[in-house]
Amino acid sequence: MKQFHPLTIERIERETSDSVRIALAVPAEFESDYEFLPGQHLPFEVSIDGKKLRRTYSICSGVDERPLEIGIRVQPGGAFSEYAASQLSVGDTLDAMPPAGHFHVNLEKGNARDYLGFAAGSGITPLLSMIRSVLETEPNSRFVLFYGNRKQATTMFIDDLYGLKNRYPERLQLHFVFSREDQEFPIAAGRLDADKVRELYEHFCKGLEPAEAFVCGPDTMIRTVTETLVELGMDEGHVHSERFGVPREAAKARAAAAEKAADHAAVTIIMDGHKKSFEMRRDDDNIVDAAADNGIDLPYSCKGGVCATCRCHVREGEVTMATNYGLEPWEVEAGFVLACQSRPVSDFILLDYDKT
Ligand code: FES
Repeated sequence: MKQFHPLTIERIERETSDSVRIALAVPAEFESDYEFLPGQHLPFEVSIDGKKLRRTYSICSGVDERPLEIGIRVQPGGAFSEYAASQLSVGDTLDAMPPAGHFHVNLEKGNARDYLGFAAGSGITPLLSMIRSVLETEPNSRFVLFYGNRKQATTMFIDDLYGLKNRYPERLQLHFVFSREDQEFPIAAGRLDADKVRELYEHFCKGLEPAEAFVCGPDTMIRTVTETLVELGMDEGHVHSERFGVPREAAKARAAAAEKAADHAAVTIIMDGHKKSFEMRRDDDNIVDAAADNGIDLPYSCKGGVCATCRCHVREGEVTMATNYGLEPWEVEAGFVLACQSRPVSDFILLDYDKT
C-alpha cells in the first residue's frame, strides 16, 4: 500500500485573496516515489482537532521542477483548505501519499501535437503542470488553454501563465473568460458553457488538429465541454477530464444504494501480499469505512468517487459501485472498483489492492 510521507513546506504564499500556493520538498530517500506524470495529484492527510481529514490536490509544477507545488482554493467552511491557508508555515510538514491519478499527459519528446485545455477556477492546477511539461519536453507541440473564472483578481496562477506565454509565445495560446467582469471583447465574457466553447473553438482553433483535450472543473462544466468538443468532431476517447470537489450526485447515489436490504458479507483484502478479512453489513456505506470499523486501514482520499486513491480489483465475488468519476471504462470492464463507493452484492468478495 502506498504510504504517507511528511513533505516539508519550503514556501507558502497567497496566490489570490482566496487561494494559497504551497511548495513542498520531498525527503531525499523518497524522491523516486514522488516522480509524477503531469496532471496527477497528491492525496494529503492532516489531523485537525483529533480528526483525520484527507484531500487530494493536483501538482501544478512541471515534471522536472522541484519542489512540488500545489494550489489550494480556500472554501468557506472547508476544514482542510482553511487549515492550510491559516495554520501552515514554512518548515511545517504535510503528510502526502505518492502521486496518483489517470488524468495526465503522456509526454514524448518527438511529439508534434496540439493540445487543448479547458479549466474552470482551481481546475487550472493540473493543467498548469501539463502546460509547463508539454512546452518544456515536447519542443514541437502546442497548447491552447481556455480558462474560465469570475474575475481576473481571483484567477489562480495568472502570472505563471503570462510568464509561460512570454517564454513560449509561438506555442502557447491563452484565452481567459470572465463571468463577473465586463470585457472589452464579448468572446472573453461569460462562462464555459456550450455556446462559449463552440465560439472559442471556432475562433481560436482554426487550422489546429487537437490530438487531445484536457478538461478540469466542476461536474456540469466537464459534461458541457466534453459533449461540445465531441459535437465539434473530437473523438470522445481523446477528451480527458477530472472533476474537482465531490459531485452532489455521488452523495445522492450512495444514499439511494443504502436503501438496499441488510445482511452480512465476508470481505477479504489482499494488500502488499498479505490477506486480511472482516465482515460488513451489505447496507454499510462502503468498504473503506467498514474496513476502518474493523481496524483495517485502506487507502482513500476524497471518498467521493473522484480521485481513485481507493482503486482495487475484485478477484472474486461481486460489488456494486454507487458512483464512479475516477475509473476509465477499461478499468471497470477489467474488474477494478472504487472501494469508497462500493459494497458487496455476493456473500463473499476478494479485493486485490496489489493488482495494477
Ligand atoms: S477515495 Fe477518492 S475515489 Fe475513493
